[in-house]
Amino acid sequence: MKTSRIAIIGGGNLGSAIAEGLIKSKFVAAKQIVITRRNTSALEALERKGVTVTSDNKTAVKNSDVIIVAVKPYNVKEVLSGLKSTFKPKKHILISVVTGTSVAELNAMVGEGIRVFRAMPNTAIAIQESVTCLCQQGATEEEIDYVTDLFNQLGITIPIDEKLMDAATVLGACGIAYALRFIRASTQGGIEIGFDAKTANRIAAQTVKGAAELLFKLNRHPEEEIDKVTTPKGCTIAGLNEMEHRGFSSSLIKGVRASYDKLQE
Ligand SMILES: NC(=O)c1ccc[n+]([C@@H]2O[C@H](COP(=O)([O-])OP(=O)(O)OC[C@H]3O[C@@H](n4cnc5c(N)ncnc54)[C@H](OP(=O)(O)O)[C@@H]3O)[C@@H](O)[C@H]2O)c1
Repeated sequence: MKTSRIAIIGGGNLGSAIAEGLIKSKFVAAKQIVITRRNTSALEALERKGVTVTSDNKTAVKNSDVIIVAVKPYNVKEVLSGLKSTFKPKKHILISVVTGTSVAELNAMVGEGIRVFRAMPNTAIAIQESVTCLCQQGATEEEIDYVTDLFNQLGITIPIDEKLMDAATVLGACGIAYALRFIRASTQGGIEIGFDAKTANRIAAQTVKGAAELLFKLNRHPEEEIDKVTTPKGCTIAGLNEMEHRGFSSSLIKGVRASYDKLQE
């Protein structure tokens, strides 16, 4: 499957970032990718790299094996239903990054025989640092390996049950915003204790990156690493406990829950 041609239907933020990441990682050559949107002038940078750019979704699907759909949720039915007769069960795999559209709904749009994957990346896909949660129905081991490998070029991939897709949307995709707000708040604190905004922001951002890398590279539990920096009667534990008295962990947990509840409405 390594030589597959990939069509990205919906070359917006996410669709373009996927194309960029796949080229950068050399997963496929630029000429193996076709990307579509109605306003193709916004895709000139990809075209210059050798990607085929078009508004013709039908031809894009016809000439490809793997179809990644990255349009907005309110566009997906119209776009995919219009392509139903172009999808061929023995030829095509559909990967949808569209939030909130189930595998069953996608299969109803493109035909029952098509193997459908749902992927939930986050915006760090633009720098190949996404976490992408992935589920599928009816795919072969080879197809699962291929799609996992594809998203591994763009960060890390975690297979999940489809019933956890909304939870993945909150923890992974909304999670980027939570983490960034943490960095911004730390920056504001940093300014109050003497740094200029730019320096405070760099220190706060690199500190979060370093904390995450400690967990990944050393395979540690967060609390193990926290114990190392909390000297008895020291300044870290004083600050941390003050944050907890003011609801730090609780407000994060409640925020995750509120995002999840909103998604269920
Ligand atoms: N951004 C995230 O963090 C994130 C994370 C996970 C999942 N998602 C999901 O990913 C999807 C895309 O998000 P996004 O942020 O990339 O949105 P976006 O920037 O608005 O991209 C959607 C693209 O679809 C194109 N489009 C609309 N109708 C089309 C048609 N008939 N044929 C071909 N292209 C068409 C639009 O371009 P034209 O108007 O020029 O056609 C637009 O560029 C959404 O469903 C979102 O829920 C996003």
